[in-house]
Amino acid sequence: MSVTRMCAGLVLCGAAAVAQAQAPDPAQLASSGADGLASCASCHGARGEGMAAMPRLAGINAAYLRKQLEDFASGTREHALMSPIAKAMSPETREAMAGYYGAMRLPAGAAPTGVHPGARVAERGAWDRNVPGCVQCHGPGGRGVGDAFPAIAGQTADYLSTQLEAWKSGRRSNDPIGLMQAAARGLTAEEIRDVSDYFSRQPMQAPR
Ligand code: HEC
Ligand code: HEC
Repeated sequence: MSVTRMCAGLVLCGAAAVAQAQAPDPAQLASSGADGLASCASCHGARGEGMAAMPRLAGINAAYLRKQLEDFASGTREHALMSPIAKAMSPETREAMAGYYGAMRLPAGAAPTGVHPGARVAERGAWDRNVPGCVQCHGPGGRGVGDAFPAIAGQTADYLSTQLEAWKSGRRSNDPIGLMQAAARGLTAEEIRDVSDYFSRQPMQAPR
């Protein structure tokens, strides 16, 4: 049966078809939800700042955010809360939301002073265990480099440590050529905790 015949007599059918073809307004989906999707802000914060294990999205490279949403949708990356949401979004909506959050700006805090226990791994790595310094890929202070190496500065410490543990155990494996799995595998639990705390305190900067 054709769509037109199915729709015959249904007053709202045309309007529903139009609504489905269009991506929802990103600001509306972010703040109050749309098309049966929960608002992103309910988990990621009103300003996209993140909380606990819910990552900050504001100011992260849009192409990177889009890749993550595609990975959740295809199943290359999995999470009980986020996968069903990404799967329910159309490709257009995933692209629009990545652009929306990528362009969002939060005020940058001040760089912390003093010696931090996570600084060694962050800056120099642990070469005895084949771990390069995080900044070699993620840029100075973890500010992010291009589309592939996301900003980790100003990300929540809980989220950072969850991801490092996920890579270490193989639960997350959507990184190009296993770069992150290799880096995380050599870290001890204490180093994961310290380096996560370190980057959560770095001010986020304009990406390079
Ligand atoms: C019920 C809570 C919840 C809601 C609602 C939610 N998210 Fe998430 N989201 C999460 C969690 C938790 C993660 C981290 C998953 C993990 O640990 O791998 C995540 C991860 C992400 C990531 C990956 C970020 C990164 O840096 O890798 C993106 C992008 C994202 N969410 C976008 C969205 C968008 C857009 C919406 C609204 C349409 C949304 N989320 C709604 C919980 C939620
Ligand atoms: C050899 C390069 C390389 C090194 C060294 C490296 N990373 Fe990464 N990292 C990556 C790549 C590439 C990604 C993106 C993975 C993807 O596309 O899903 C990533 C992603 C991440 C993410 C996920 C961010 C998000 O929002 O999804 C975190 C957290 C992270 N790295 C932390 C670290 C820490 C901490 C270190 C140092 C111990 C480190 N990385 C060292 C290449 C690297």
